[in-house]
Amino acid sequence: ATSKTLAQSHISSRTPPYELLFNNLRKVRKVLGTRRRLTVAEKILYSHLHNIEDSLLSNTQNGHQIRGDATLQIKPDRVAMQDASAQMALLQFMSCGLPSTAVPTSIHCDHMIVGERGADVDLPASVTGNKEVFDFLESAAKRYGIEFWPPGAGIIHQTVLENYAVPGLMMLGTDSHTPNAGGLGAIAIGVGGADAVDAMVDAPWELKAPKILGINLEGRLSGWTAPKDVIMKLAGLLTVRGGTGFLIEYFGPGVDTLSCTGMATICNMGAEVGATTSIFPCTKSMKDYLDSTHRSDIARSAHIAVNEPTSLFTADEGAEYDDIITIDLSTLEPHINGPFTPDLSTPISQFKDAVKVNEWPESFGAGLIGSCTNSSYQDMTRAEQLVKQASAAGLEPKADFFITPGSEQIRATLAAGGTLETFSSAGGTILANACGPCIGQWKRTDGVSKGEKNAIFSSYNRNFKGRNDGNPSTMNFLASPEIVTAMSYAGSTTFNPLTDSLPTPSGTPFQFTPPFSIKLPFRGFAQGNPEFAPTPGVPESAHPVIISPTSDRLAVLEPFSPFPSGELEGLRVLYKVKGQCTTDTISAAGPWLKYKGHLPNISANTLIGAVNAETGETNVAYDHFEPGEPPKSGIPQLAGKWKDQGKEWMVVAEGNYGEGSAREHAALQPRYLGGRVILAKSFARIHETNLKKQGIVPLVFENEADYEEIGAGDVVSTVGLYDMLQNGGKGDVNLKIEKRGGGKKIINVKHTISPGQAGFILAGSALNLMANKAA
Ligand code: F3S
Repeated sequence: ATSKTLAQSHISSRTPPYELLFNNLRKVRKVLGTRRRLTVAEKILYSHLHNIEDSLLSNTQNGHQIRGDATLQIKPDRVAMQDASAQMALLQFMSCGLPSTAVPTSIHCDHMIVGERGADVDLPASVTGNKEVFDFLESAAKRYGIEFWPPGAGIIHQTVLENYAVPGLMMLGTDSHTPNAGGLGAIAIGVGGADAVDAMVDAPWELKAPKILGINLEGRLSGWTAPKDVIMKLAGLLTVRGGTGFLIEYFGPGVDTLSCTGMATICNMGAEVGATTSIFPCTKSMKDYLDSTHRSDIARSAHIAVNEPTSLFTADEGAEYDDIITIDLSTLEPHINGPFTPDLSTPISQFKDAVKVNEWPESFGAGLIGSCTNSSYQDMTRAEQLVKQASAAGLEPKADFFITPGSEQIRATLAAGGTLETFSSAGGTILANACGPCIGQWKRTDGVSKGEKNAIFSSYNRNFKGRNDGNPSTMNFLASPEIVTAMSYAGSTTFNPLTDSLPTPSGTPFQFTPPFSIKLPFRGFAQGNPEFAPTPGVPESAHPVIISPTSDRLAVLEPFSPFPSGELEGLRVLYKVKGQCTTDTISAAGPWLKYKGHLPNISANTLIGAVNAETGETNVAYDHFEPGEPPKSGIPQLAGKWKDQGKEWMVVAEGNYGEGSAREHAALQPRYLGGRVILAKSFARIHETNLKKQGIVPLVFENEADYEEIGAGDVVSTVGLYDMLQNGGKGDVNLKIEKRGGGKKIINVKHTISPGQAGFILAGSALNLMANKAA
């Protein structure tokens, strides 16, 4: 009986609350008026609103100005986290004292696994090297009822596609490529850990309603052209910022010709143009994929109405898009994008010339296929056909050839069908089902030294400098797996497999025949090694969470102190930042990522990229409160010293403070070190919210010129701040400044603190407030 109950809860947790969503869609239509035609993205997003009437009517004119304007409060159905970002998210969740997550949640151990010599060697070595982190994640998962996918089980987005993504789902994932699930008709958005925690504690998650960019697909792919080429072409058209503020929704007759996994590839790389997420309407391919991945019951319970125009899963006829781009699949060429940026897009017919003109290397050392982007059955079997053709002609790859299956399910399916054997026999290395070389976990053994200019080809999604092997001079050219595979046989960047031949040992020139597509395995997907199955996701309240007190990678989060009962007095200005200050400036990545689960240790990187407005130095702070010549130190060192002395501080900054990725560490770290206020000319919206969640008060100069009136070493007292917080964000605030060299000033400031956010700040943090409520 117990196992039946477990199995049932397992299945039910993987089905969104469809009845509720259908009902909600009816409410949405009522509020917006039945003449309003909705896109599929709008239907799914608005059906997940916390309060449909308030959200759709309050900020808008009768609901017509929602896109690009309203702030939506969303209740997601599910959360997925990868191992690197899950650490701080879990630590924050734990500090709320709740017995389990409010929505089904999963953890996927994929980012911390090396790619070097092959899965058999690399996986055990990576598990040993990261044991304490994996032990922590697994133990916390058991305690709080989170499904834990162990190292080797697969890459988060492939696992989500195979197990959790279904049409109509609204999901948050702590990784940029979470939109991959849009290939199965889900709205899936990549977020920082603090946002995931919102969903895990049942707090509404805020999203500025995106505009909708419609991509009209016409025609049908053929020959060498793959689904990936759709997004490679689009990246070239839009550039890496062109999708910002937009949700990309595909429509048109070409949509029905694509495989579900192909659509996932396209949605995955929507992240490369900065889009909020991407989505396809429900198609027959999606239903076929659900059947093939053992989810016929969910496909049925979803009532997937492929031809139902008013359904939750398809756009209304005549739905309007804010902008439309048309791509004709029939004439689309394979593309190669890069180096160093995914939007430098070149059709393959022009690539040879581009190599010459740009003096890119004419040979390349490695071809890497697979990853979360491109390891579907269709991708891998197309690559397999090319390997077979080349092997039959007596050829071997000239470049090192690496294959990363996206999950144990796809690995086992490819193993059963002989595809992996074909790759290995041709000299390919099968890496673990994990991120490996895609995220810098590639230990190259081909002798390329750091700084040496060289090229690689991959079927991955990103190609920023240093991303794969830590060498900023490695040029990663992105292409479909079939193009990467064929080119690996030439080892030459100027080889065009569509038109060129290769010499063979027998002397006869060999030319590849274009591969054909098999969308799904004939017998469905193999289940794979049961060792890689997830934990059941049932909370065990007595299960201990394993964190060693001596660990330097993990530390339990101590709750931050509440706001004092009165104004802030004697607040010291730690630093005045000049120019741009991104979340990377505030909390640098690179080697620091190792300490993501250890707030005291990672705080040693706080603001180390910030330029001192007074001296022009980077990360040099002066302690003006010491007698005599002020001693200088790094910013985190001075903040730490003041923390030890019990002195709280603030930072002064210019415009768009905290732009960049939604990294919650950029708010947690200053707070941990004793920061109370950030005073800036303006804030990046997400970071401003993150600061409030951690109990830091973001204030904005009413008059930007007052930036000149305040500097490091000044002492600040707030006037009206405490009353404003107590009044739920209402009331004027100004700052009384005692200048370092003597004299006083008053500065008027503004803020965007809502009643709810005032509650966070008074409690010390959003999680403190949650913990107080749970107690
Ligand atoms: Fe992993 Fe690279 Fe995808 S890091 S999640 S394989 S983008």
